Amino acid sequence: MSEEMANDSPTGIHDLSFATTEFVLPHTALSRHNGTDIAKYHKGIGQRSMSVPAADEDIVTMAAAAAAPVIERHGSDGIRTVVFATESSIDQAKSAGIYVHSLLGLPSATRVVELKQACYGATAALQFALGLVHRDPAQRVLVVAGDVSKYELDSPGEATQGAAAVAMLVGADPALVRIEEPSGVFTADVMDFWRPNYREAALVDGQESIGAYLLAVEGSWKDYAEQGGRALDEFAAFCYHQPFTKMAYKAHRHLLNYCGHGVDEERVARDLGLTTAYNNVIGNSYTASVYLALAALLDQADDLDGRAVGFLSYGSGSVAEFFAGSVVPGYREHLRTEAHRAAIDRRVPIDYARYRRLHEYSFPADGGDHRTPSETTGPFRLAALRDHKRIYETR
Ligand code: CAA
Repeated sequence: MSEEMANDSPTGIHDLSFATTEFVLPHTALSRHNGTDIAKYHKGIGQRSMSVPAADEDIVTMAAAAAAPVIERHGSDGIRTVVFATESSIDQAKSAGIYVHSLLGLPSATRVVELKQACYGATAALQFALGLVHRDPAQRVLVVAGDVSKYELDSPGEATQGAAAVAMLVGADPALVRIEEPSGVFTADVMDFWRPNYREAALVDGQESIGAYLLAVEGSWKDYAEQGGRALDEFAAFCYHQPFTKMAYKAHRHLLNYCGHGVDEERVARDLGLTTAYNNVIGNSYTASVYLALAALLDQADDLDGRAVGFLSYGSGSVAEFFAGSVVPGYREHLRTEAHRAAIDRRVPIDYARYRRLHEYSFPADGGDHRTPSETTGPFRLAALRDHKRIYETR
């Protein structure tokens, strides 16, 4: 195909699927443990429960579970690249994507790489994928993004944990969402949230992180407008990164104010209302969160044929990007609404004590042969750690 034709063909998200964990901790259980008024969780931060990985689940098992139905539906022809975005990486050298590539039986003629910039990583992966497809529209890219969000026990961040992975097949003539040019981008060197290599739980300055997020909303929107993007009124809905769902509301009100629109709560509810349903019960899934917002929107909206959706992807540290997508007419025939609801409904509620044990559980680092308790009923499991190697298996 000529370069001119390649650039003309729309590119975007052809398929979207997510997976989450075996267990779920309702916020009522956390509130009973720490005495916090449940209204603070349900209303103040907008969270009802959070996904908790079983001892034999991690970012790889969730990502493989998210991607398997995509490969089942579309096959692997044309997939020459797998990009895994995460900030809860399991290895400093090897990409988690290689384990996913192996579990899914993808061809060896594939490049696999891991990308990181906090919760923004999946959007970097999406943009990387779009670039590859623009260069060769016959190719498709499997983008997976998965995280386990973990804060210290009994810290303010504890209520905003969660875990999930999303898989997106990116290609030409997509069935779901065409991703548009331009993007508005923003970077600021801030220490709002970070996780040094020697720590399992993230460090965060909660209020600073909210302020940094809002500044990034402003900055990325300003650049988006300067690059000639759409006007605010053209968007049918906005998918924000949702570390907790109330953050999307804070961000959108901030954007409306920044654009001189004033805050009309009916409009805010219309713009965001359908995007929070999955994050509200899954919790923070870091890189996956903004695309879980998209899944919730597509799965629930009456009709978005041809409508524009705004995306605000934020990653602490910080990098943000505002971009637009246009929903492809007929998208509803390609959704996975039932499977998504099942992924949420199949989780087994656990009590605070069990959650705490799982939170405290970590593999010994002695290089011995450590088998993992058999807990997950998902399609893939982390079976053992042996000679410092993670051993995965298909169930
Ligand atoms: N009934 C109703 N609402 C109540 C309430 C009650 N009884 N008690 C408190 N609230 C409200 C508060 O008024 C507040 O609402 P507003 O922000 O609208 O004023 C809300 O509940 C939260 O209360 P606090 O600010 O007192 O909560 P906190 O100090 O315990 O911590 C938090 C909240 C900062 C989000 C904390 O959970 C945290 O640090 N989380 C991790 C960091 C995070 O998610 N940051 C978001 C931006 S960074 C990012 O997006 C990247 C990422 O993924 C981490």
